Amino acid sequence: MLRRNRRLRTNEAIRSLVRESLVTPDDFQAPLFVVEGSGIKQEIASMPGYYRYSLDLLKKEVQELWSLGIKSVLLFVKVEEKLKDNRGTEAVNPNGLMQRAIKTVKEINPEMIVMTDVALDPYSEYGHDGIIENGKVLNDPSVEVLAKMALSHAEAGADFVAPSDMMDGRILAMRNILEENSFFNTGIMSYSAKYASAFYGPFRDALDSAPVDAQDIPKDKKTYQMDPSNRDEAIRETLMDIEEGADIVMVKPGLCYLDIVRDLKNTVNVPISVYQVSGEYAMIKAAAEKGWLDHDAVVMEQLTAIKRAGADFISTYFAKYATKLLQR
Ligand code: PBG
Repeated sequence: MLRRNRRLRTNEAIRSLVRESLVTPDDFQAPLFVVEGSGIKQEIASMPGYYRYSLDLLKKEVQELWSLGIKSVLLFVKVEEKLKDNRGTEAVNPNGLMQRAIKTVKEINPEMIVMTDVALDPYSEYGHDGIIENGKVLNDPSVEVLAKMALSHAEAGADFVAPSDMMDGRILAMRNILEENSFFNTGIMSYSAKYASAFYGPFRDALDSAPVDAQDIPKDKKTYQMDPSNRDEAIRETLMDIEEGADIVMVKPGLCYLDIVRDLKNTVNVPISVYQVSGEYAMIKAAAEKGWLDHDAVVMEQLTAIKRAGADFISTYFAKYATKLLQR
């Protein structure tokens, strides 16, 4: 035998010397769910150990994240039912919950990189990412509102806007409106390869943002989010978003789409983020609760696999937990 691969696996010292991919807290972005009110820290039923925070308690959470070494948050808001409509009116309210959340994080820690979800679903009475007419999600009128929403987040102090709506042309529209208003340094992280996935269920519980079951309302998001069967399309979508001005591109969900991550890593030259989504979190929690999987080992294995596939960083509900594991 001329080659014995086990030599490089003999002990942890040699394994660590030849290790190819590593996750560190620098790789993590923490998604945060924000609600109206005060003194609220509400556990999300389908996401055990993950919470919605009111602005006062958000401050503490942000401070803790920073002290652990997590330098970026991705903000989402749960919008009150009475503020929802079909036009995203509340989404552009300069004093809306998102706009206040951005300011709150920046006041507590100006260095924390604040990214904001841009899509209409939390604001939509129908639970869709755009405006609906005659049973269809309209593209261009939605883009118009989404661009204004992005501008409003920039005005509130967001470092990056993160459009997750998957309308055509939204990156260009956002880049243009940001440039026209002198927000030259506000970046765009595009959810560029976002699939119509069944893994978003717990997130829609968290924000109460699922498509409503009513006549003439599409039951799913398949006319704008991507078909899980497609691979070439992810490259096309992502290259277009880069052309239109995206600074960072994203693949979402994570685990089922690591081939896409690698395709993009081999194709594009901008940073790639991967969103390990709510359903991926929930699956691990549920299996661990049953005693069927080793929770901590599986968490680290999945995060490492996402890095190995080519992610430059990961948006993950395990950001805080995995950081604590790594520091142990
Ligand atoms: C909003 C949005 C969704 C997620 C992020 N932004 C839900 C959806 O598109 O239905 C999902 C995140 C997760 O599941 O963790 N457009």
